[in-house]
Amino acid sequence: MKFGTAAVAQAATARLLPAQMQMPSNEPPPEATKADFTLRIAPVAVELAPNRIISTIGYNGTSPGPLLRMREGKPVTVDVINDTDMPELVHWHGLFIPAEVDGSEEEGTPMVPARGRKRYQFTPRPAGTRWYHTHAMAGADLHRGTYTGQFGFLVVESGNNPGNYDQEVFLALRDWEPFFTSMAENEAAEEGGIGPQPEKPAVLDTRPNGLEVTSQMFSINDKALGAGEPIRVRPGERVLIHLLNASAIENKRISLPGHQFHVLALDGNPVSTQAPTEVLALGPGERVDAFVEMNQPGVWILGATDDNIRGAGLGVIVEYANQHREPQWVKPAKPVWDYTIFGRAPDASRPAPANTIDMRFEKIPSGSGQFNTWLVNGKPYPHEREFVLQEGQRYRVIFRNRTDDAHPLHLHRHLFELIDMNGKPTAGVMKDTVVVPVYGRVTVDLTADQPGLSLFHCHIQQHMDYGFKALFRYA
Ligand code: C2O
Ligand code: CU
Repeated sequence: MKFGTAAVAQAATARLLPAQMQMPSNEPPPEATKADFTLRIAPVAVELAPNRIISTIGYNGTSPGPLLRMREGKPVTVDVINDTDMPELVHWHGLFIPAEVDGSEEEGTPMVPARGRKRYQFTPRPAGTRWYHTHAMAGADLHRGTYTGQFGFLVVESGNNPGNYDQEVFLALRDWEPFFTSMAENEAAEEGGIGPQPEKPAVLDTRPNGLEVTSQMFSINDKALGAGEPIRVRPGERVLIHLLNASAIENKRISLPGHQFHVLALDGNPVSTQAPTEVLALGPGERVDAFVEMNQPGVWILGATDDNIRGAGLGVIVEYANQHREPQWVKPAKPVWDYTIFGRAPDASRPAPANTIDMRFEKIPSGSGQFNTWLVNGKPYPHEREFVLQEGQRYRVIFRNRTDDAHPLHLHRHLFELIDMNGKPTAGVMKDTVVVPVYGRVTVDLTADQPGLSLFHCHIQQHMDYGFKALFRYA
């Protein structure tokens, strides 16, 4: 691993270049009116721990970038200044905004030119915990796209927040310094056993797998477990936790021994049933808002349920006042995660949408040293006029995962409602990203109420870059 002074020096130099050396720049003069927010894309050094400093690209000199708070329905102006040599894009994940500003090249959003700037103007909605991140393709370059530190929380406030908590924390789960591997990890084991696998093919594809991306360095926000300030609490406090999986690579599971998470919202959208759970699972792109009643005095590790991942940094210490022992970790008894416990019984009187979109996902193993290809309905991106929506219509979309990975599937500019998870019916859980389990089937309903191009993709960067995406159009 390349920590140490060389990386720091390099990052520091890169950061100073534009101002001090008068690099040729195509940055137009700043606009006459002042923006509400400015994001500057530039190299940063992130100190995960005292002896572990990595160099990446971030926003405004940090990673994660600043927490942006916007008011629902109030137009905002965001200036994005790109101090790097590559064109960039900022995507506002979970917002209903036009394709021209959504931050997706596929939808036609203009790029922020290298050494240039671009002004985004939009009206943020709906309210809830959203986030922003680069949407650049990375391909084989593990220093591009969401492998970098270009991400941050975006909270769209409704004004009627109950405010019923003593403190609020924002925790972004991350991995760093990704590398290629030919070792396949066992997703089923991480998922706490093998559930029903309705989409498992009768004959499995046994061709040798290609290279995948993995990491051995983790953090919550910019600190590895134990390296940052603990979350300091008092008995009886109620702490509101906003979690985001900002990884480009993999799904994560989190637990806080001795405590339960009371889930308020998934992907920023209030759930029907605020069920307690011992474990939270988040695929890349997903958010969970949950409160924890601090009623178990001690010093605890809030961290990944996977021992290797937690040991390599994915965690933060929760310290009660006047408690000074070693941080405790206890393996959760039931590491299960089930979206449907936050739903409600389906309403039999509500008719199913008249239109159905069937989506089948497959992997073409590439063999060693190559990259696998991902197919949507038998072919990689693009899908010219395959997914066409009629404005105002409702659609039932069936995601059929014929692969041995669990994929976090995301649709831009829309919300969908979970209807069925591997045969378990539900209602009332609204999401913009859903993890479809290994060989699993998930059914969702959506209303076509956001005209314009909308990108659909797996939020694992490598899968998206190698075919796992499609455009939804309006007729
Ligand atoms: Cu969070 Cu297409 O992105
Ligand atoms: Cu995927």
